[in-house]
Amino acid sequence: MNIIHDIASLKEELSIRRDKGSRIGFVPTMGALHQGHLSLMHNCVTTCDFSVASIYVNPTQFNDKNDFQRYPRNRDQDCELLHRTHCDVVFIPSDEEMYPEPDQRIFDFGMMGEIMEGKHRPGHFNGVAQIVTRLFEAVEPDTVFFGQKDFQQLAIIRKLVAEMHYPITIVACPIIREPDGLAMSSRNILLTEEERRAAPLIYQTLSEVKELIGHKTVTKIEEHVKTRINSSSCLRLEYFQMVNTNSLESINEILPYIPVTACIAVYAGKIRLIDNIELIS
Ligand code: PAJ
Repeated sequence: MNIIHDIASLKEELSIRRDKGSRIGFVPTMGALHQGHLSLMHNCVTTCDFSVASIYVNPTQFNDKNDFQRYPRNRDQDCELLHRTHCDVVFIPSDEEMYPEPDQRIFDFGMMGEIMEGKHRPGHFNGVAQIVTRLFEAVEPDTVFFGQKDFQQLAIIRKLVAEMHYPITIVACPIIREPDGLAMSSRNILLTEEERRAAPLIYQTLSEVKELIGHKTVTKIEEHVKTRINSSSCLRLEYFQMVNTNSLESINEILPYIPVTACIAVYAGKIRLIDNIELIS
């Protein structure tokens, strides 16, 4: 596995591969890798000729300075894990390489960028779009792999790829969970023992929602979620929202033929966790 830090060397390596007819797969990450990331990588390695991962904790997508500072960083272990997945190249750029000048671009995702994560993390998706466009232009991948864990990010990336006319296929990969149901996340290691013990209630509550659908109104379901999450002294509900899986429009009534996904953000102490579940496909 080749570790590359600059865009020029990356482009040189990839153009050789492309000239040989290789289809290039790409998995962008912020590192502190876990089985969720590795499942994306596995999907990439098994379906593409040449696989690239990136590790870059992108400052422009963090609206909270403390969250950026405490975000876990573990380069050596990440490289070892990627090496084991048979990743071909890992791109680990510096801030100067990614942002030689401050990025002033403003992306408009309409309603899709204003609800849920967009509402509670102002500027987050703009920062995601800034880095993802730079990474896509550096790698020029044929196929990119994103996790359904970040459900709204995936919808935003789809919109971005369509609007920018990138000739890129997006592959959505399922959420990988701990045995107790907690969605794997780089932030999980920041939880205290008590918070970690409480955190599985998030997925447990989403699973209950799946059972309640069709039996209770949307308002009743929302009340149920708030009561359940806040019943733990370690957890605090930030938002719970049921949305149309494709358009992300908010759902106020369950209707046949409308695919629904329930999304949730919860604070476990200072650590913010997100999760989602498909209710109606
Ligand atoms: P990061 O949080 O490191 O996630 C990288 C990719 O791994 C994302 O596509 C995310 O959805 C996926 N992922 C994370 N946890 C997962 C899980 N439990 N199961 C399946 N997939 C999971 O998302 C980002 O980084 C950044 O915003 C990035 C796109 C790299 C731009 O900076």
